[in-house]
Amino acid sequence: MNCPTSTEILIFLSLWSLHFTVPGFATNSTFTHILLSCGTSGTFPDTINNRTWVGDIDSQYISDEASQNSTIQGQDSSVPTVPFSAARIFTTNYTYKFPLSAGRYFLRLYFYPTKYSNHLAADSFFTVTAGLYTLLSNFSALITVNALNYTYLIREFSINVESIFLNLNFAPSTEHPNAFAFINGIEIVSSPDDIFSTSTAYYGDGTKRIFSYDQGVAFQTMYRLNVGGQSLSPSKDSGNLYRSWDDDSNYIFGPAVGVAYPKDPNVTIEYTANMPQYIAPVSVYETARSMGPDSQTNLKNNLTWILTIDSGFYYLLRFHFCEIQYPIMKVNQRVFLIYINNQTAETQFDVIAYSGGIGKPVYRDYVVPTVGSGQMDMWVALHPDISTLTEYFGAILNGLEVFKMSSDEYSLAGLNPETSQAFNEKHKSSKGKQKKKKVPEEGIIISAPVNHCREFSFNEILAATNGFDEALVLAVGGFGKVYLGKIDNGSTNVAIKRGNPLSKQGVHEFQTEIELLSKLRHRHLVSLIGYSKEKNEMILVYDYMVHGTLREHLYETRNAPLEWKQRVQICIGAARGLHYLHTGANHIVIHRDVKTTNILLDEKWVAKVSDFGLSKTGPTLDHTHVSTVVKGSFGYLDPEYFKRQKLTNKSDVYSFGVVLFEVLCARPVIINTLPEEQVNLAEWALFCHSQGDLEKIIDPYLRGKIAPQCLEKYAETAEKCLKDQRIHRPTIGDVLWNLELALQLQLNAENGNLIGGTTSGEETPAVILGNQKLSDEPACELSTSTTIISMGGRSIASEDSEVLTQNDVFSELINQKGR
Ligand SMILES: *[C@@H]1O[C@H](CO)[C@@H](O)[C@H](O)[C@H]1NC(C)=O
Ligand SMILES: *[C@@H]1O[C@H](CO)[C@@H](O)[C@H](O)[C@H]1NC(C)=O
Ligand SMILES: *[C@@H]1O[C@H](CO)[C@@H](O)[C@H](O)[C@H]1NC(C)=O
Ligand SMILES: *[C@@H]1O[C@H](CO)[C@@H](O)[C@H](O)[C@H]1NC(C)=O
Ligand SMILES: *[C@@H]1O[C@H](CO)[C@@H](O)[C@H](O)[C@H]1NC(C)=O
Ligand SMILES: *[C@@H]1O[C@H](CO)[C@@H](O)[C@H](O)[C@H]1NC(C)=O
Ligand SMILES: *[C@@H]1O[C@H](CO)[C@@H](O)[C@H](O)[C@H]1NC(C)=O
Ligand SMILES: *[C@@H]1O[C@H](CO)[C@@H](O)[C@H](O)[C@H]1NC(C)=O
Ligand SMILES: *[C@@H]1O[C@H](CO)[C@@H](O)[C@H](O)[C@H]1NC(C)=O
Ligand SMILES: *[C@@H]1O[C@H](CO)[C@@H](O)[C@H](O)[C@H]1NC(C)=O
Ligand SMILES: *[C@@H]1O[C@H](CO)[C@@H](O)[C@H](O)[C@H]1NC(C)=O
Repeated sequence: MNCPTSTEILIFLSLWSLHFTVPGFATNSTFTHILLSCGTSGTFPDTINNRTWVGDIDSQYISDEASQNSTIQGQDSSVPTVPFSAARIFTTNYTYKFPLSAGRYFLRLYFYPTKYSNHLAADSFFTVTAGLYTLLSNFSALITVNALNYTYLIREFSINVESIFLNLNFAPSTEHPNAFAFINGIEIVSSPDDIFSTSTAYYGDGTKRIFSYDQGVAFQTMYRLNVGGQSLSPSKDSGNLYRSWDDDSNYIFGPAVGVAYPKDPNVTIEYTANMPQYIAPVSVYETARSMGPDSQTNLKNNLTWILTIDSGFYYLLRFHFCEIQYPIMKVNQRVFLIYINNQTAETQFDVIAYSGGIGKPVYRDYVVPTVGSGQMDMWVALHPDISTLTEYFGAILNGLEVFKMSSDEYSLAGLNPETSQAFNEKHKSSKGKQKKKKVPEEGIIISAPVNHCREFSFNEILAATNGFDEALVLAVGGFGKVYLGKIDNGSTNVAIKRGNPLSKQGVHEFQTEIELLSKLRHRHLVSLIGYSKEKNEMILVYDYMVHGTLREHLYETRNAPLEWKQRVQICIGAARGLHYLHTGANHIVIHRDVKTTNILLDEKWVAKVSDFGLSKTGPTLDHTHVSTVVKGSFGYLDPEYFKRQKLTNKSDVYSFGVVLFEVLCARPVIINTLPEEQVNLAEWALFCHSQGDLEKIIDPYLRGKIAPQCLEKYAETAEKCLKDQRIHRPTIGDVLWNLELALQLQLNAENGNLIGGTTSGEETPAVILGNQKLSDEPACELSTSTTIISMGGRSIASEDSEVLTQNDVFSELINQKGR
């Protein structure tokens, strides 16, 4: 791209003046980027985003008004040190003055609510104003993070600066005794003046009237989602705006979650002349979520996101679109409706018509009013529009931003959210997402910081497990024994893991780590409810998962075999859990011990990853042991571990690849009694796959039941995970997409999904022709005879469509042996 070079301008301190080329900016504009680490002096690199923060003590932005520095002792390890390890505390009204040239800026405020000196987080209530605008009022960062399940918080605003100074004022509440204000970091970055253009926003009521608003309006970013993609850190943003983009999967309203997918490798994302690149980075447009390939299913459903917002404001919703997969490249192939808050915002929306072609990004803004006060759910939904003659019945979205607009009173301040318990109570029925979590009593939330993790006394544990009754042992593992326990007077079942006793130092580390892990909450993670460390015991208390481990449903079991679809769904769930761990906004956690016994199943067969992150304290992976044993005896271990002695997120990907084959083949990952080449499942499966002979090692129960294209996608995904070199392995996000795709291919095949003789989605449908021919001989040299029928103009690979009738008999025999 040819970008004009902006002039380098020194803004008071050369450190804060950065020289960038800003696409979409006028050639002559100045660029400001201030990163202030409050309550400190010196400079601090933020390695994740390759930026440097400067202590506010050295700046001319602070005045002599009374304020205090405070550094945090024993900071939560999940919180980045910059800018969160120090704060500026205000017990009276205080103003930062930033000299800025007129124009629009993103202002980001960083808050980590914790105890500062003798100030308790629960006492912090304050108002923040920027010039004329009230950004926050009676704001409690603590209540907010608790409601969101976060540890820290970044609030982003877009403000128009008209004078030569921006006054940023912090005023402690006058209504709460001991109230104080605090701030950990302040970021100000120039943005294009027309980033919120008044001429492109429409009323979200379907009237297609242009909504015009005053140029001075301030905005608060409520959501910025990379739909169907991964979260993107500020360094991955375009236009040097340093925005963060989140993964949308937590906001999707099930069960029709659609399918998330990346662009076709042959498609290039090209910004057109009236589409500045700063609007959103390529990474946003090159992934999408669509309704999926089944037209009939799509017609029965909406693809819906639910976003909690403050009522009583106008909201600007920016939808980002780009078609990225063949065959959708022409007008009238995919046309859909957009609903906002159950109102039709747009009919006959055709991305290709609007953007000009495949790979061309486009965005569209709608403004909707909301009424009332407190919080409400904003519903955003897409549905196929069949009022025109379209080829496919579906819908697509690549990105979504939701901005709150300042009121006539120049305010953006909403109420504090309801406390998390009240919130959960209110939302558990309407969202239907999550079962009520078994959190400990949180007490009165205002007076003490919430601790998500409950500490149990040893006596409570004894009572819960009937004195570690052997009859209650659910499993025995490297960690120790796992007992079925009952807590809260027997009202709640839990799984209690009792590890080996700890050293004194171990106890401290254990506690720190537990505090971190207990903050990780996700539909696909087993929730850690609490722990006990009395008597140097290392005891963990988890949600009890009725259906036990995934392995118990694969082999060496009396449980009925799982259907293929269900297995893929379980793998998708587990991949989602890992994806959350790898990309979480607050913490990045490497699991380090991904295996089928660490994937648990709840009463609805939802997969939940367990035992994550217990690296340092939990002997889930015994390092001394690992380094002395030969490669692969663990079966799941990343081969690069031996070279680098370090486990990374790609090690998890490797282990997950082994899990995928284990699920497909239903055999242990190591069987020492087999001939050498078959001992290690990962190696054996790779070999058979390379010989095109995977068929013969798949679970006999599944033979003939897997759509060939699904199997290929699945096996290819597993194979990539098992690449020797980490760099060649996909991210868990890629794995997730591919598994979703594989599932769609299976569903597609099972539904015989054909409408008017044409396919109904992005992907070529697969059709199962009864059972495939099987080779019942053990040697891999035999070639398979899979049958693939192509519908979408892709290759037809049909070597042999003959169907063997002894197939079922053979399956039965193997079944008896295997189970
Ligand atoms: C930059 O702005 C100044 C003053 O407005 C003007 O004189 C100059 O020509 C501009 N330079 C460019 C390259 O546009
Ligand atoms: C970090 O920023 C510097 C200067 O802006 C740049 O030269 C360097 O390549 C960046 N490093 C990374 C890893 O992005
Ligand atoms: C803040 O910290 C700096 C450097 O540590 C120190 O010089 C200054 O006195 C502190 N200010 C207050 C108000 O404590
Ligand atoms: C803070 O102080 C400024 C100047 O003294 C005053 O204008 C403003 O109203 C005060 N704000 C609050 C919330 O007290
Ligand atoms: C916080 O986590 C709990 C348990 O995982 C969940 O029920 C709740 O919905 C989460 N709250 C938010 C605001 O996401
Ligand atoms: C992508 O491009 C390559 C090389 O131009 C071509 O061989 C291949 O068929 C293309 N794939 C698709 C799906 O169009
Ligand atoms: C939209 O409709 C759903 C049910 O169809 C309802 O639960 C929800 O409250 C509605 N949302 C709004 C903003 O009206
Ligand atoms: C989709 O959402 C709209 C707006 O809320 C609603 O009217 C319609 O009934 C929904 N359709 C389906 C199939 O749920
Ligand atoms: C401030 O927020 C707290 C917690 O949400 C609430 O209880 C209190 O009533 C609020 N005070 C005012 C003046 O709004
Ligand atoms: C357990 O039982 C005791 C005694 O009956 C009672 O005081 C306590 O509130 C109960 N606790 C719970 C969590 O039900
Ligand atoms: C994996 O870890 C590397 C290095 O720590 C990091 O750069 C990358 O973003 C991570 N990727 C994912 C998908 O988590």
